[in-house]
This record gives sequence, structure tokens and C-alpha cells, in this order.
Amino acid sequence: MGQGVLSAGFARSAGLLRCEGVPLDTIGEVAGTPSYVYSTSTIRNRYDLLSDTIASVPHRIHYTLKANSNRAILRLVRSLGAGADVVSGGELFRARQAGFTGEEIIFGGVGKTARELAEALDARVLLVNVESEMELHLVDEIAARRRIRAPVSIRVNPEITVDAAHQYIRTGERGQKFGVPFDDARRVAELAATLPHVTLLGLDMHLGSQLSRVDPYRVGTERLTSIAADLRARGVGSLKYLDIGGGLGVRYDSEEPPDLARFAESVLPLVAASGLQLIMEPGRFVVGNAGVLLTRVLYRKHSGGKEYVITDAGMTELLRPSHYGAFHRIEAVRADNGHIRADVVGPVCESGDFLALDRDVQNVRPGDLLAVFDVGAYGFVMASNYNSRTRGAEVLVDGDRFAIVTERERYETLVQQEVDDPEWRS
Ligand code: LLP
Repeated sequence: MGQGVLSAGFARSAGLLRCEGVPLDTIGEVAGTPSYVYSTSTIRNRYDLLSDTIASVPHRIHYTLKANSNRAILRLVRSLGAGADVVSGGELFRARQAGFTGEEIIFGGVGKTARELAEALDARVLLVNVESEMELHLVDEIAARRRIRAPVSIRVNPEITVDAAHQYIRTGERGQKFGVPFDDARRVAELAATLPHVTLLGLDMHLGSQLSRVDPYRVGTERLTSIAADLRARGVGSLKYLDIGGGLGVRYDSEEPPDLARFAESVLPLVAASGLQLIMEPGRFVVGNAGVLLTRVLYRKHSGGKEYVITDAGMTELLRPSHYGAFHRIEAVRADNGHIRADVVGPVCESGDFLALDRDVQNVRPGDLLAVFDVGAYGFVMASNYNSRTRGAEVLVDGDRFAIVTERERYETLVQQEVDDPEWRS
């Protein structure tokens, strides 16, 4: 089982880039730029690919909202059978607005507030992934006040070295802030099993993001199942779930995405032997290749021996290149005029504001449209209003149809929370 054609929702025909059946220049005209454009069929295919990969064991796929929390996309993944994985009160709110019921939601995160925990319990979420002993006691207290038992999973730091593309997206290594350190995990899980207002239902891990190797999943799963076996041997009979997190990588350039057949061969037998239900929390795998950022060329400039393409999108729309040095393929929507080597940069007043450095791109002119590929995950969700820039639109394509699913922000949006006539207190 390979990963299939990755950006199959986007293809060029008669010189023009299209998303499914819709020419991208039509979307540029109607929605304006910068805009994010998502392909329904790509999301559907990617979801089905993962679901087929793990079909041989009982499982639940909880789509991770942080990758892309647009409501239309949430409704789409829910219609495909996904649950939700949220890490803040805001994401919990979004998930419920999109139609997810409490029992379809997992609540995680290293720094949940008491309010967020209370909201999660009141929503009757399936699981709260607890990340420390202190948090466990707080969950117990909050549940006690409600006279309920909180459904809890312990997030274990499996302490495995992983190959994530950037240091900032490694999470399951020794000494990270995430999860309960491996050596403490058995004790904390046993404590959870004895607290009066907690039910220990699962063990959880997340290794990191944009992973290409399968081995860490096998080793991590072994570590979790060995803890599960020890707990059972000590009489803990409540475990139901084994959550191995997200992290499956996608192709941006020439990197090798994980071999799903090997993933299935090496991880699923361990899960099956544990008798627990598998949970996965994918984000990037489902939506990463399903989106492009449409941006218009504003200017060309030659400076210091370098060619610049200045676009109307930059780090405020897509932070990944400047924050992680991430590579995103860039192509002109209409390709007809040869190639140049250039830095593709945004309008933000920072030298670190770029979409690509020293890149071979089409010889575009002002007014031309560019598509920045594979931005469906960690694109729009990481956009900011720096330089008082309004966030762009989001567009969903389905076959020959498209719809604006998030309106472009207006200038008024930028100041609507600011207090004109503040009430002074002392
Ligand atoms: N579960 C947990 C606990 C996570 O922390 C994450 C991602 C996921 C699941 C989903 O991981 P995925 O399947 O998408 O790799 N902004 C970075 C990525 C940060 C990932 C954070 N955690 C980027 O643009 O590469």
C-alpha cells in the first residue's frame, strides 16, 4: 500500500491549474487573494487511506483540529466517520459547533486550564488525555464537584528519538514538556485507577509530527502495551483505548512518506494482542496535501544580485517557511513564460517574511496568480494579523463546485475587541 497520488485534487490541464474541476483563476477572481483553497476529494481519499490501513483492528480516528479547524472541513471529516481531537476550549467549541458530540471528542494538551477541564467534562467528552500527576488530581477534584467520574487517558512520553522534520515538532523524546515521563507512567496510571472520581480508560502517546519512519510507532506502541499489561497484572481492569497519536508525514518535496503497509504490519499486531481499541489522532495526513494558498504577484524587483517576486501573501498567511524553514512547492496558476530563480517574499515588514528562498519559479508578472502547495495543515490556523493584515478567505471545492467557507476578514474585524472608552479601575 503506497500513499497514492498526493496532491491529486490539484492538476494542470491546458496550461491552467485546477482544483478538482474548478480553475484556480476563477476562484482567485471570486474569492480574491490571498485565499486558501481545499479539495474535498483529497481529504476524502486521505481519510479513507488511513482508515483502510488500520481496518483490521477495532479503531477510532480522531481528526486533530489544530491542523485545520475550518467548520466545513470538520463537517466533512465527521461525515467520513472521524471523531475530533481538541486541545483548547476554543477547539472544543468549534468541534461541537461543527456537530461532534461529546463522545466523539478527545481533549488533550499540556496546559489545560481548570475552566477547560470543566468544559470538557460538562461536554461529556470520550477522554481527557492527562499529561501530569498534578493535572490528574485537578481532574479528580473537578469531577468530584460534579459528582461524576472523569474518563481519563494518561499521555505517556515514550521517550523515543524521532525523525521529525524540525526540532519544534518533536514531542515524544526524553525531557520534552509533553506527557508523563516514561519512568513515572506506571505509577501515575495506577494512581488514576485508584482516584475516586476518575476512570482510567486509556494510554496515549504522540511522537511528533511529519514523521517518515515507522519504527518509532512500533517501539512506542510496545512501550504503551507493556504498561497496559503491567496494569492488568495489578488488577486494573478498566483500560479500553490505546492512542498512538498523530504524526504520519506527507510529501512536500522529495521526502519519503511513511510506508503504510509496514506501519500496519509492525503496529497493528501489537494493538490486536493488547485487546485495546486503537485510537489515532491524525492532522497533517488527512488535510496536508489537500490545500493550496492562492496569492497574487504584486511586484518584481532586482536587488543585490537577487531576483524577488513580491506577493500579497507572506508569513501572516503561511508561517511554515519562515518559522520552520519548511518547503512548499510554488507554481504559477497559468504557466506560459519560462522560469527564473527568485526569492518569493511577502509584504510583511520582516526580513524573515518569505514563502520560498532561491527557488526555481515561473517567470511571473504582476497580477499573475501563484499557488503555494500542500498548505492544508498548519496553514490558515497559524495565520496572524501582524501588520494589521486581515486574514484571507477559505474556499472548499467539491467536483465542479466551490464555495467560500470563511469570509475574508474586514478592517473592522481587526479592532472589534478593542475598547473605545475603557473603564478605568484601581
Ligand atoms: N496529537 C497531538 C497530541 C499533537 O500534538 C499533534 C500535533 C497531533 C496529534 C497531530 O499531528 P499530525 O498528525 O498533524 O502530525 N505546526 C507544525 C506542526 C505541529 C504539530 C503539533 N501537534 C507544522 O506546521 O509543521
